[in-house]
Amino acid sequence: MSVLVLGGAGYIGSHAVYQLLDRGETVVVVDNLETGQRQAVHPDAAFYEGDVRDHDFLRTVFEKNFAASSLVGESMKDPLKYYDNNVSGTQVLLQMMLEHDVKKIVFSSTAAVYGEPESVPITEDMPTRPTSTYGETKLIMEKLMKRTEEAHGISFVSLRYFNVAGARETGEIGEDHRPETHLVPIILQTALGQRPHITIFGDDYDTPDGTCIRDYVHVEDLIDAHLSALDYLREGGKSDIFNLGSSEGFSVKEMIDAARKVTRKDIPAGIGKRRSGDPSILIAGSDKAKQVLGWRPSRTSVAKIIEDAWKWHSSHPNGYRKEVST
Ligand code: UFG
Repeated sequence: MSVLVLGGAGYIGSHAVYQLLDRGETVVVVDNLETGQRQAVHPDAAFYEGDVRDHDFLRTVFEKNFAASSLVGESMKDPLKYYDNNVSGTQVLLQMMLEHDVKKIVFSSTAAVYGEPESVPITEDMPTRPTSTYGETKLIMEKLMKRTEEAHGISFVSLRYFNVAGARETGEIGEDHRPETHLVPIILQTALGQRPHITIFGDDYDTPDGTCIRDYVHVEDLIDAHLSALDYLREGGKSDIFNLGSSEGFSVKEMIDAARKVTRKDIPAGIGKRRSGDPSILIAGSDKAKQVLGWRPSRTSVAKIIEDAWKWHSSHPNGYRKEVST
C-alpha cells in the first residue's frame, strides 16, 4: 500500500520519506517546492510537483497511485496564506481521499495549538488556545478531520510536534529552511562562521535564566512516531491526538551552551528583543504516544540532536545548495 507524503521535500517530510523507504514502503511525494527542496526527495520516491489546493493535480496523483493509502501532512506562512494553504488544502485533500476511498491519515499538528499553557508538561486534554494563526489553522485542520471522520469514517492520528531538530544520522539530509528561522540551525550556522552571532530573543521571561524554554525532539524519533501511527491505524486503531516531545525543557541559553560543547566553537550570542507570539515555556507530556502508539524515542537528548544536526551542517555548509552562499 503506497504512502503519500505531503511536503516530502521539506525538512520533516524528507526524513519521513527516507524512513518509510528504509522499511520497504512505496512512497509518493507531493510538494510545491515553495519551501521544500527537490534534492531532499529520495530518488526512490515518486515525486509530483504541485499544490494540494489544485483539485485536478491532486486528483491525478490519487488516480495514478492510490487505491487506498495513508498520509503524512505538513504546511506554511502569513495569515491569509495560512488559511488558504492549510485549511483549504486539507479540505481538498479530504475530498480526494473520500473520492478515492483512502481512509487513513497521519497528520502533522503542532504544540502551537495550545498557546501559552497554564502549566507544564502539557497533556493532550489541556485547553487549546492558539496565539498564532499557524496554531489556529492547525487546530481547524484537526477539527475538519474529526468531522470528516464522523461523517465518512476517515480515521486520523494527529501528532502535535514540539520543537523538532536534528538530522538523519548518516548526515545525508537535514534542516535547510530559507530563510532559516529555527534555533538549532541558526546556532550551528553561527558555529560555522556564517553568521557573526546569534540573537537570543529576550532574556526577561519568567524562566530560570530568563530565556524561553522549549522541548526538543529528534526528527528521526518524530518520524518513528509517524510510522507507529501508520501501523496503529492499519491495525484498526481509533482516531486520536498525541503530543510528540521529550518531556524535558531547555532554555535558549542552554541550547547554545550545549552546541558550544558539541562543536567546540565559540558561538557568539547577544540579547535582542522578544519575538512576538513566543510562549515562555513549552514542554510536552508524551506519555500517551508511548502508551498507545508504543513510541520509544531513542535519540532525543539535546547532545544527540545537536551532534546529528552538526554532522549535516558541517558536511553541507550550504545546505542543499551547491554554490557557495549564505
Ligand atoms: N530563538 C532565538 N533566536 C533565534 C531563533 C530562535 O532566541 O535566532 C528562540 C525563539 O525565541 C524560541 C526558541 O529559540 O524561544 C525556539 O525557536 P524556533 O523558532 O526554533 O522554534 P519555535 O518554538 O518558535 O517553533 C517551533 C516550530 C513551529 C511550531 C512551534 C510550536 O518551528 O513550527 O515550535 O510551538 F509551531
